[in-house]
Amino acid sequence: MFAINGGASPEIHSNLSLLLRLLSDYFLKSMANNEENLEVELSEIAMSETHGENSPYFVGWKAYNEVPYNESTNPSGIIQMGLAENQVSLDLLQEYLEQNSEAGPDSSEFRETALFQDYHGLLSFRTAMAAFMERIRDGAVKFDPSRVVLTAGATAANELLTIILANPGDALLLPTPYYPGFDRDLRWRTKVKIIPIHCDSSNDFQVTRQALEAAYDSAMAMKIKVRGVFITNPSNPLGLTIQRSTIEEVLDFVTDKNIHLISDEIYSGSVFSSAEFTSVAGVLESRGNKNADRVHIVYGLSKDLGLPGFRVGTIYSYNDRVVTTARRMSSFTLISSQTQRFLAAMLSNQKFIDKYIEMNRDRLRKRYEMIIEGLRMAGIECLKGNAGLFCWMNLRPLLKKNPTREGEIELWKCILKEAKLNISPGSSCHCSEPGWFRVCFANMSEETLQIALKRILSFMERMRNSREDII
Ligand SMILES: Cc1ncc(COP(=O)(O)O)c(C=O)c1O
Repeated sequence: MFAINGGASPEIHSNLSLLLRLLSDYFLKSMANNEENLEVELSEIAMSETHGENSPYFVGWKAYNEVPYNESTNPSGIIQMGLAENQVSLDLLQEYLEQNSEAGPDSSEFRETALFQDYHGLLSFRTAMAAFMERIRDGAVKFDPSRVVLTAGATAANELLTIILANPGDALLLPTPYYPGFDRDLRWRTKVKIIPIHCDSSNDFQVTRQALEAAYDSAMAMKIKVRGVFITNPSNPLGLTIQRSTIEEVLDFVTDKNIHLISDEIYSGSVFSSAEFTSVAGVLESRGNKNADRVHIVYGLSKDLGLPGFRVGTIYSYNDRVVTTARRMSSFTLISSQTQRFLAAMLSNQKFIDKYIEMNRDRLRKRYEMIIEGLRMAGIECLKGNAGLFCWMNLRPLLKKNPTREGEIELWKCILKEAKLNISPGSSCHCSEPGWFRVCFANMSEETLQIALKRILSFMERMRNSREDII
């Protein structure tokens, strides 16, 4: 680096040597520091933002977790109305447990429960699930237990199906608004794209052939291969069943385009009146199961039985190759044998299940009526729903100054801060019309729901009385 002049004095020589040593120490140290600071790399999936965790849907959950409402310890905390959880019938399940103490694991079954479970799951449980799925459809359709594939929740079922039906870069078409979790479940790890089928309030957000064609064409224009249409029936977030004629329309469309149809029917037992629900399975049966091998149903016990902690989901496919592949893949996401045994016994208890289904429907209807009436008194209209654990509330009239997505988010923040309620803005569900919000009503007691309604009422009064438009 440095040529030291041979004729230099010893003093200069030693100073230069010292300088050289200092410089080389400095470089070595800074290199070591750089190495320490270098972050070790992770995969593209790990670094990807498609998880959707920054959406107001999840941000609202975090806000709730920081200051949760509690009647006695934190009465001014945030009430969680952004979680589609069914707590209205947990007492019935608890009562069943008390009366059937043998339902828990006993020593005679311990070995069988503890040892190896293959990926087919227990036949007794698959049979009970198939029968339960028939029961909530009033016995109008038949499900074959050999086609039931078990997964740890519907989240896993939806991702697994997507992996089987589409390659990274391909697309699924989804009617909007849709459940915000789908961005994570269908998109994140699969690298499959979601292309929206834009629906609007002019026909209660029902899918039309025109909207299907427009979504398909937009994929074609982007040179993206469409692998299927993914519907949720009853819809989350609309709280509404899909009409039979619409299901027929979608089925014809996927047949014409030679693509798949996935129907997530996780809320099928939470329709207030069973007569108002048509499963794609019923439509297929009425067509003699023609073209059925492109159809796949997702179900689970997180909503209708209120057991999201048990992690029980299923894929029911009419396609043999999909069933075989899904079963192999389900090794990654099995349900514990103990859970399967417990639920097989409970679901096979016909008397209990009949009572549960009827009482749960009645209680959900009553809750729905309570919230709709409370909102009506506050001057808020909702889409007329008939299912699920939420209503679809229209606050568009409040977006006077700013009827945009930004205006909607401002209003959402205002409701979170002032009324201390976490609801889900329609934009987090990819709704194309600003001003709609999903409001959950079954994850709390009746008393808490009444408090939430009072908070909405006074928030609306404040909005009306304020001279300036807040939004
Ligand atoms: C339409 C829909 N599908 C799937 C899920 C996920 O259910 P699970 O808890 O069984 O994974 C949800 C949960 O909210 C949902 O609303």
